[in-house]
Amino acid sequence: MWDDSREALAGLELDSREQVLDVGAGTGALTRVLREQSPAEVVAVDADPTLLCRVAGSCLVGDATGLPFRAGTFDLVTCQALLINLPDPGRAVQEFSRVSRDCVAVVEPDNSAVSIESTVDEESHLARRARRWYLQGLETNASLGAVRGLFERAGLTEVSVRRYDHERTVEPPYSQRALEGARRKASGSGLTTDRETILEGETTVEEFDELRQAWRSMGRAVTEQMQKGSYRQREVVPFFVTVGQV
Ligand SMILES: C[S@@+](CC[C@H](N)C(=O)[O-])C[C@H]1O[C@@H](n2cnc3c(N)ncnc32)[C@H](O)[C@@H]1O
Repeated sequence: MWDDSREALAGLELDSREQVLDVGAGTGALTRVLREQSPAEVVAVDADPTLLCRVAGSCLVGDATGLPFRAGTFDLVTCQALLINLPDPGRAVQEFSRVSRDCVAVVEPDNSAVSIESTVDEESHLARRARRWYLQGLETNASLGAVRGLFERAGLTEVSVRRYDHERTVEPPYSQRALEGARRKASGSGLTTDRETILEGETTVEEFDELRQAWRSMGRAVTEQMQKGSYRQREVVPFFVTVGQV
């Protein structure tokens, strides 16, 4: 996602790094950017070996809240979209500041502030409602965004935050991914996948069923517009890059 806007990563001073750790690397989306932009040895860590096996180069299975490294091993410790998945993100930040001897940088989205513009009128407000209910049902905070407070509590100093709006558009000619997305809306299957989580929050079964019905009708309108080539959608996900010094 950093193809079009790498200045948001400027605070990481990637060209002068020697040992970098990317925690919760998954399949290596951020790891690849770090390796392209830095002469450092970049080590990827993730709790899930099935994802990690798709990352080339140095990688290790490990837990963000108990990293298998000595204090001060790295001059930069990073993560992207990891803390939103953790019940105690502050513990991970403390661990990052232990294994770093210089800089910690965390990239997290604020999923409560995602915006959608669509040529199908109902899509924007239905997506907003579905997202709000889903976030209410999660056990973790997927709206973390900037984590200045967590950094300060971990004793990190010179904390700075940069925002990066990640934009995704759907327009003709439609990609396979976009066509599949429309099919999932029209069948309601995407929302059904999230049903259990949504019902963990304040939403009743009746409210969920009503939303699903409206969602499927919206999905049919999306499919119709796609057949005519008139469907357009723009989604913006705000990401925040929080950087601090050990
Ligand atoms: C949303 S993915 C982000 C992956 C990658 N950083 C990216 O930006 O595409 C979150 C990752 O965190 C990993 N993860 C979740 N809990 C973890 C933990 N306690 N320790 C290490 N990794 C963890 C998951 O396995 C998953 O790969």
